[in-house]
Amino acid sequence: MSGKDSFTAGEAGAGMFNAAELRESVEKDWNGTLDVLKDKIALKSVSAKGIAAEHMRKSAEFVAEKMREVGIETRVVQAQNTDGTPGAWEVIGSRTVSAEAPTVLLYAHHDVQPVPSSDGWKTEPFEATEIDGRLYGRGSADDGGGIAIHYAALRALGDDLPVNIKIFIEGEEEMGSPCFIPFIEKHRDEFDSDVIIVADSGNWSAQIPSLTTSLRGNVDVDVEVKVLEHPVHSGQFGGPILDANTVSAMLISSMYDKNGDLAIPGLESCEPIGGLSLDVDEKTLREDSSAVDGYVLAGTGTLASRLWTKPSVAVIGFDAHPVEGSFNVIANTARFRLSVRVSPLQDPAEAGKATADFMIANAPFGAKVEAKVGETGSGWAMNPDAKTVAVAEKAMREAFDAEPANKGEGGSIPFIPDLQKIFPQAEVIVTGPEDPKANAHSPNESIDLESLKKNIVAEALILQRLADVDLPVRKN
Ligand code: BES
Ligand code: MN
Repeated sequence: MSGKDSFTAGEAGAGMFNAAELRESVEKDWNGTLDVLKDKIALKSVSAKGIAAEHMRKSAEFVAEKMREVGIETRVVQAQNTDGTPGAWEVIGSRTVSAEAPTVLLYAHHDVQPVPSSDGWKTEPFEATEIDGRLYGRGSADDGGGIAIHYAALRALGDDLPVNIKIFIEGEEEMGSPCFIPFIEKHRDEFDSDVIIVADSGNWSAQIPSLTTSLRGNVDVDVEVKVLEHPVHSGQFGGPILDANTVSAMLISSMYDKNGDLAIPGLESCEPIGGLSLDVDEKTLREDSSAVDGYVLAGTGTLASRLWTKPSVAVIGFDAHPVEGSFNVIANTARFRLSVRVSPLQDPAEAGKATADFMIANAPFGAKVEAKVGETGSGWAMNPDAKTVAVAEKAMREAFDAEPANKGEGGSIPFIPDLQKIFPQAEVIVTGPEDPKANAHSPNESIDLESLKKNIVAEALILQRLADVDLPVRKN
């Protein structure tokens, strides 16, 4: 249990600490925070290997234990899938300090993306390794960093916590949160809050802090292309008969106009929202994405809109014969999966249907095309006028000693819009430890440790100050 004895921060009047005092406290407890992150990485909590599996329960138990250390009463609860089968291992918890104080829900997720092979990794993916101020390992940033922020911010405040806390550390975020709706319906009171702080996003850079102004929605569309009943000799029939891979490539490219903008009717776009005012500079984008020299960026309009508020489509899977062992045959079928990123305010089911309809309507050469819409997740936009936004920006300015540059994100956190539907009065701020060099979902994922410290100080400042914000506080 953390208490007053767990930090050294000096008095700054009425139990309030300034940024420098909190920073000192974060430094003092730093090894403990780093251990949380390192131990968490070693747990290999890959939800794609089974959300209900034992390794995911262990990961949840670990996080619950750590949160207990900083004064939160936690429980590990197994959610259920919509069909009633056992689902994800979730961590929920709370700490009540006063019936008059606002309640803040802290969110992060303890599951991580898979590591299909250690190819491309310069370190062991599940062994935290510190190099030049960054900690490498799967889940170091996404979202071990979010867990570390909540843990260390609560620890820094100790018993001087002036707000009520609820926590939800999800075990299936990377799988699109299939159990979330049934779970929340069962545990409504445990989510009911005035403010929600989501630590699963990131900063403009390791030096410049950001609130996330918007997130895109997402939907998968699986497409199957069939040209023949069975494969045939490519010499015998090649010419009039195009193979299913080629036809699929034509179908895929037909989604774009000559500028590289998506041209699927019914896929909506919007201009930057949520208070976003800055654009992204091309040089930085090229560097951060590791674009090869001369690679031309697709689409028109500002880079901010192309990255964050317009839709995009990626082919994330393609079933074709591997090159190795291939032989002279015309493939009769091909299958591919499109991951559609949906403009923040569009209904993802509608975007999925528009994409599937487009695939079927544009089948090249009369091929048989089937398209199935899969899982959906909604997008989100911040209300820049929310009172907590100003509080958070001030806290970030002080913690980072830099002017915040709020940014959009092209990724998705479907939990946020789902929860906002149920608690529309709750103010949501989306922050997090990722930066453009974090390589989330890819090899050599890492977190900038100096930036993590600043994120912790910022969250501790936010929690302190939310006690004084005039929110429509519900009585507990
Ligand atoms: N942390 C990411 C979301 C994110 C991505 C924030 C990029 C900021 C920048 C989150 O864990 C994630 O990857 N979400 C998935 C959700 C999907 C499975 C529904 C995503 O966006 O692919
Ligand atoms: Mn994440």
